Amino acid sequence: MKRLLITGAAGGVGKMARKRLSHLAQSIRISDIVPMDPIADNEEAIICDLADEATVHALVKDCDGILHLGGVSVEKSYDLIEAANIRGVHNLYEAARMSGQPRIVFASSNHTIGFYPQTTRLTADMPTRPDGWYGISKVYGEAVAQMYHAKFGQETAIVRIGSCFERPVDRRMMATWFSYDDFCRLIERVFAVPALGCPIIWGASANSGGWWDNSHLDWLGWAPEDNSETYRDEIERLPQRPADAPDVLWQGGMFTADPVVKSKDC
Ligand SMILES: NC(=O)c1ccc[n+]([C@@H]2O[C@H](COP(=O)([O-])OP(=O)(O)OC[C@H]3O[C@@H](n4cnc5c(N)ncnc54)[C@H](O)[C@@H]3O)[C@@H](O)[C@H]2O)c1
Repeated sequence: MKRLLITGAAGGVGKMARKRLSHLAQSIRISDIVPMDPIADNEEAIICDLADEATVHALVKDCDGILHLGGVSVEKSYDLIEAANIRGVHNLYEAARMSGQPRIVFASSNHTIGFYPQTTRLTADMPTRPDGWYGISKVYGEAVAQMYHAKFGQETAIVRIGSCFERPVDRRMMATWFSYDDFCRLIERVFAVPALGCPIIWGASANSGGWWDNSHLDWLGWAPEDNSETYRDEIERLPQRPADAPDVLWQGGMFTADPVVKSKDC
């Protein structure tokens, strides 16, 4: 690619992706609502609120691919989620439609299915069960991607990220952990494959106790290689959780117990 856009570039996954995926394009356009320092030589930084339509259109212009990580990433008030994740996704897809339809990776979430019990193994075609306004906003984003594919042929990898962190840090993450290496190998593959379509991809490593079935993705040429079992000993040293705790019962963990927040500022 000549130019790859990474939104959410100041965030946890964004910072990691900038370091590890800079080889994907000659130039990386990075964007966030907050400053993204330090900026590498092949990066071009643009501060942009995803809710601002005109700025998003300028942001997407001349990009050959988009790694869309930007947005509210936890449960917050509806107003904050609506601006970044509802209007923001609308703005991004409309901008892409008018700029040659660059391939998009949409960072969706396990919170689209958070109210499934941890005892249920899920395939990507099962109905969503979001666990809050954040999860609902990701269901909306998935629907936008699917509609733009059906109507305009826009290609998107919808990646339902489990827990993309350096290592698992709690018992639930033994099932949901998505290693940085597996994440990056997936993104490389998404931009390399000749035809992508609009698949839903479970963003998790090959964890022995995983809940999600990616067997519909044989054609993609990607399979996760890491396994949270590597960290079993240190996770087993953590205190046991009560059998009826949300993070023991539900796939969405503690998000299922989050209140509906009213203030516009939090
Ligand atoms: N990290 C995970 O395990 C995980 C799990 C599921 C889904 N995801 C999704 O992956 C993406 C990246 O996750 P992360 O952990 O890096 O999140 P993060 O919160 O660290 O990063 C998100 C970034 O988006 C930016 N942002 C928020 N509102 C914005 C707006 N209105 N306009 C422009 N930028 C805005 C934030 O400033 C932040 O830097 C998010 O979309 C998140 O929902 C992540």
